Amino acid sequence: MTLQDLIDMKAAALEKARNAENAEALEGVRIEYLARKGLLPKVMQELKNVSPEEKPMFGKTVNDFKNELAERIKTKQAEFAASGTSAGAGFDLTQPGQWQGLGTRHPITQITDRITRIFQTLGFTVADGPDIETVWNNFDALNTPADHPSRDEQDTFYLNNGDLMRCHTSPVQVRYMMEHKPPVRIISPGRCYRRDTPDATHSANFHQVEGLYVDENVSLADLKGTLSYFARELMGPNVKIRFRPHFFPFTEPSVEVDFTCHVCNGKGCRVCKNSGWIEILGAGMVDPNVFQSVGYDSSKVTGFAFGMGIERITMILYGIHDIRNLYENDVRFLSQF
Ligand code: PHE
Repeated sequence: MTLQDLIDMKAAALEKARNAENAEALEGVRIEYLARKGLLPKVMQELKNVSPEEKPMFGKTVNDFKNELAERIKTKQAEFAASGTSAGAGFDLTQPGQWQGLGTRHPITQITDRITRIFQTLGFTVADGPDIETVWNNFDALNTPADHPSRDEQDTFYLNNGDLMRCHTSPVQVRYMMEHKPPVRIISPGRCYRRDTPDATHSANFHQVEGLYVDENVSLADLKGTLSYFARELMGPNVKIRFRPHFFPFTEPSVEVDFTCHVCNGKGCRVCKNSGWIEILGAGMVDPNVFQSVGYDSSKVTGFAFGMGIERITMILYGIHDIRNLYENDVRFLSQF
């Protein structure tokens, strides 16, 4: 047997192993070459007839042959075994699958996105502001009197440097108007902070969406039209809204806005305390003093602003009775949304 014969034999063996179509055929290849009475042990016996010059090369080739073929058979055996359990004959289609829990967005995020999309269809764009604010942006520029209770340390978190955690999203109005000329049409969702003791309807950290629209000749009727559209998009075509007079330092006139109760459609039930209405947001016409703070000419432009609590709307839409559910991150609760 020459070295070339040996090399040809090796190529043929590896080819057979590669082409083996199942575990049985593969075992046949193994027996043919590697078993005790197989071809390779016979080749080893040939070694003594090989010339002294060729012997080292011949010996090395036989060894490589054996190792490579054994390795290839082993890998292929593993492949056959694996396909047998996942897709081959051993796979039982009637076995129940393994449920991999799917994550979802947090209900607060879902409702924020929904509210944002509704206003985006009306041409509002999203503006952002920081959670840590100056007293000027959060109160002074918004026409809040020096003795207004919301400024109290009992109500607002102050930082050591005199800044504060914003207690509403309204300072974003101030920031935006300081940087942009009218017309302005923005909404601004974000976190707010108040020193409330947590209970079923209060949380020291919550979310609001602010809205601001400034241009020439913007009127209370525009505010009402905008919020009616919003109400219908959020709650369905039959919802009605009403304005109740209210007071905010930064709007004049100011209103609180109610939607007809989503449970009884305005007939009166336990959820709306028999009034037929649910309070949803605060709004009003931007006070001229606010325009003055940000350098707008209040003889030229008017505008409306509104602010709503996202937790409150989320709880109403989903029938959640305790705001704390939204913060405890219990997967049994969150996975329902
Ligand atoms: N900032 C007010 C609040 O937190 C809501 C509001 C915003 C009212 C804009 C009027 C206009 O209660």
